[in-house]
Amino acid sequence: WCQSVGLVLSNKVCVSKEGTVAEYGMLARDDIEEGEVLFTIPRSALLHQGTTKVSVLLEKERSSLDGSSGWVPLLLALFYEYTSPQSHWKPYLSLWTNFKTLDHPMFWSKEERDRLLRGTGIPEAVDTDLANIQKEYTDVVLPFIKKHPDLWDPNTHTMELYTLLVAFVMAYSFQEPQEEDDEEEEEEDEEEDEKAPNPPMMVPMADMLNHVSNHNANLEFTPDSLKMVCVRPIHKGEEVFNTYGQMANWQLLHMYGFTESYHSNSNDTADIPHHQLLQNIQSDMERQLVEEKWEMLCQIMQEKATFVFGKQGCLTDTELHTALKVLCMSKEEFSEFKDDEGWEEDEEDDEKISLAFCNDGVPGLKTSWRRLIHEAARLTVRSYSKEGEAVDSDQTLIENQARLSSRQQRALQVRWGQKSILYRLMELTKS
Ligand SMILES: *[C@@H]1O[C@H](CO)[C@@H](O)[C@H](O)[C@H]1NC(C)=O
Repeated sequence: WCQSVGLVLSNKVCVSKEGTVAEYGMLARDDIEEGEVLFTIPRSALLHQGTTKVSVLLEKERSSLDGSSGWVPLLLALFYEYTSPQSHWKPYLSLWTNFKTLDHPMFWSKEERDRLLRGTGIPEAVDTDLANIQKEYTDVVLPFIKKHPDLWDPNTHTMELYTLLVAFVMAYSFQEPQEEDDEEEEEEDEEEDEKAPNPPMMVPMADMLNHVSNHNANLEFTPDSLKMVCVRPIHKGEEVFNTYGQMANWQLLHMYGFTESYHSNSNDTADIPHHQLLQNIQSDMERQLVEEKWEMLCQIMQEKATFVFGKQGCLTDTELHTALKVLCMSKEEFSEFKDDEGWEEDEEDDEKISLAFCNDGVPGLKTSWRRLIHEAARLTVRSYSKEGEAVDSDQTLIENQARLSSRQQRALQVRWGQKSILYRLMELTKS
């Protein structure tokens, strides 16, 4: 099939199910140098709304296919191609018999998700996904396929299959990066002119590669083709790894169904919900003042609801800096601050803030700020366990992982990775 669609694979690599970290993967059969092209996929071999057999119809009806995800056209194309015996992509799609290998948390029972992933942010994300999938299928997809019984059949193209395909797209699709538009005036247009992201597409062969944060290959997009290029030397016998982006373990599990080991994932993060910072303050300050401060902070931080901490320090340092500053103001300082409407006056430079909130800087923060962070981290750690439960049995579990099921292991990697970051933060903010 690869030959017939013009996909060219270097003879230095092969696809394998053995010697890889999960299911399929790509192995080096020879030493590979930085810059070498591992395979080239012509654009005509990609599967998306513009290449599928039903592309003309999808284009014509585009206005009625606006789901919240922006994925409806690709999902309809997959619905069609996956169940059509004549599909141009039949051999490619047959690699996923019934999508049995997908084990995203969306396929776990709600009880299992809530039990194993409590506190990680995943149960809430999955509940939202499932509600959106159901709504999109019922409101957009079903009415559309009923109008075209020659191409789709509601008995075959069910919500169950739709859900599997959503997971398939989450785990295996690619998005072409936005082209940077140099002509536009950068700053001014930034906010208003945000373009919708490119729709996802399926990229045969590229999607065989597994991910690690410390990857050795990268997909490049050119006008005629997509190329997987080696980005650092790979030795014979080693696995070739792509990157799906800088991903924390909770994101990997949510979107792809797998995790990296918590200590090797250099991009792991833990979130502290904003309100945890407030929890502590409420008791010893006037309620009204705190509420006013909180209202202002909510406006400043807009829709973002958490502070994000990576392994090297806080990744949302400006927001955290602002929040600490405002929360620790006296009544007088706060009213002066409100009157000044802002930051302009004593805007501190970003670089200084980012240094102050990396792991090396945190122990040097003001005592009052450290105390707030410490308390917020402690409360967040607490939120992984049910009330009355022991706070940490995960440490023991980590040492006895082999006995756990695959789901338990993956959930543990997410929980323990996040908690390790929070414990570290507590250590750094100790008084
Ligand atoms: C993510 O991981 C890569 C590779 O290890 C590293 O270079 C990068 O700095 C990390 N990014 C963050 C935000 O931790």
